[in-house]
Amino acid sequence: MLVLSVVNRKGGVGKTTTVFNLSYALYSKGIKTLAIDLDPQASLTTILGFNPDEIESGIDKVILSAISQNDVNFNEIILQTDLGFYLAPSKEELELANVMLTDRFEKEFVLKEKLNDVSGFDIAIIDCQTSISLLTINALAASDYVLIPVELTYLSMQGFDALMNVILEIKRNINPNLKILGILPTKYDARLNTVKRSIKVLESLKKHYNIFPPVKKTVSFDKSIERGKPIFLIDTKSARDACKAYERVADKILEILYDREVRT
Ligand SMILES: Nc1ncnc2c1ncn2[C@@H]1O[C@H](COP(=O)(O)OP(=O)(O)O)[C@@H](O)[C@H]1O
Ligand SMILES: [Mg+2]
Repeated sequence: MLVLSVVNRKGGVGKTTTVFNLSYALYSKGIKTLAIDLDPQASLTTILGFNPDEIESGIDKVILSAISQNDVNFNEIILQTDLGFYLAPSKEELELANVMLTDRFEKEFVLKEKLNDVSGFDIAIIDCQTSISLLTINALAASDYVLIPVELTYLSMQGFDALMNVILEIKRNINPNLKILGILPTKYDARLNTVKRSIKVLESLKKHYNIFPPVKKTVSFDKSIERGKPIFLIDTKSARDACKAYERVADKILEILYDREVRT
């Protein structure tokens, strides 16, 4: 199973939106997809129509079982969504994991160990919380790839170098297998000067990183999230444009999955 984390320590850049739409895009292409909500705010879980308070066991139980007596198997918490793909849901209790795991031996590798029990999926896509917390480090330690959505604003671009340094540090010290799938510019509005400047910065990074075509800014995303429907199922012109951007990311993942299959 390929593991992909969607990471940025800034909020509102489209991490959850990306996991939601990418999971659907891949599932629609016949890929067995597991979305993992590793954010205690449980936005992805909520968008997918589950009430986190009513879910009996979420990813919190799985992670916290690493420091308690009762072992919880990852497979026990997986739910099928109405859209077809599967979800490892989150609950706010997951916040505790950031504190409780601190003293655990090899605290960075709990999720990776737990994912060893999961089978039957081609890909797991992890929605990370808005900080490089111990949970996010666990996600990156378990991942083959990381995808970084960035909003094209001045402050976002200011924080970009620091974010990349953290990711490269994790690669050096915790997970040498971690690769950067790419940078995905989100909420793109070509009319704004700040966006134009940000795009120039990204252009200059092209030799280091794969920069995906941007996802345009459109209110269709708000509609999509409110209705719990991926952007692929919203019938407006701007939604169709946004689909194309997510299709490109999905195609890149398909290439990697296909390449893996051919080699094994
Ligand atoms: N391309 C886009 N255009 C317009 N709004 C977007 C776009 N991508 C995401 N959004 C909106 O931005 C808000 C924050 O997105 P979200 O995915 O929750 O960010 P994060 O998970 O990084 O905090 C949501 O209301 C979502 O509908
Ligand atoms: Mg989010």
